[in-house]
Amino acid sequence: MRRTLVATTAVLMLTIAAPAIAEEAAQPNAERVAAARAAIKGLGGGLKEKLVAAMQSGGPISALDVCKLEAPKVTDTQSKSSGMTVGRTALKFRNPGNAPDDFEKRVMEKFVADIKGGADAMKLEHAEVVEKDGKKVFRYMKPIMTAGTPCLACHGGELKPEVSAKIKELYPEDHATGFAAGDMRGAFTVKQMIE
Ligand code: HEC
Repeated sequence: MRRTLVATTAVLMLTIAAPAIAEEAAQPNAERVAAARAAIKGLGGGLKEKLVAAMQSGGPISALDVCKLEAPKVTDTQSKSSGMTVGRTALKFRNPGNAPDDFEKRVMEKFVADIKGGADAMKLEHAEVVEKDGKKVFRYMKPIMTAGTPCLACHGGELKPEVSAKIKELYPEDHATGFAAGDMRGAFTVKQMIE
């Protein structure tokens, strides 16, 4: 009888305690998602600014140098100012440092399938709290779509020979060409440890 009571009490306590502990079990809270959206907006804006300026001043060849130098810097700065690890990744990536992990691969494959199925790419995003090595990690991703200009100059199917050569020089293992306008080029990705 007593044992039953103890057991029942334990179950009750668990039930009561569970919602607080499991608040971010799989579904992240809204503030965290809003912060991730703001962080990638900052990253996208920062990168675009550098890219447009470089394309205007020196065309794609010099813009390639600028991208290689500046993209990691802008990404670092945005990570520090947002308190989240922000970045870009792709199934077909240019910089091996942007290669996706299993989670990112899975989410991007789902984005591609959703877009193929008619989903509005601009509205797609994925937010989840996952467990990694016994710790909770917030993850957020959003597709990056290929626009005709200026993306295709460096990611398209028919690159100028000199652009192609420069890419090969800077990124001997490049996978990020052959895209068409409207293709998903990759995704923004955000990570944050949850205490
Ligand atoms: C001047 C050439 C150039 C143009 C134009 C350009 N990119 Fe890139 N892109 C690069 C380079 C170089 C990298 C690798 C940057 C690095 O080293 O981090 C890159 C990387 C990326 C990545 C990160 C994943 C990866 O492959 O490493 C994405 C996503 C991306 N570009 C999307 C775009 C989109 C979308 C556009 C059009 C708005 C665009 N790019 C226009 C040169 C370019």
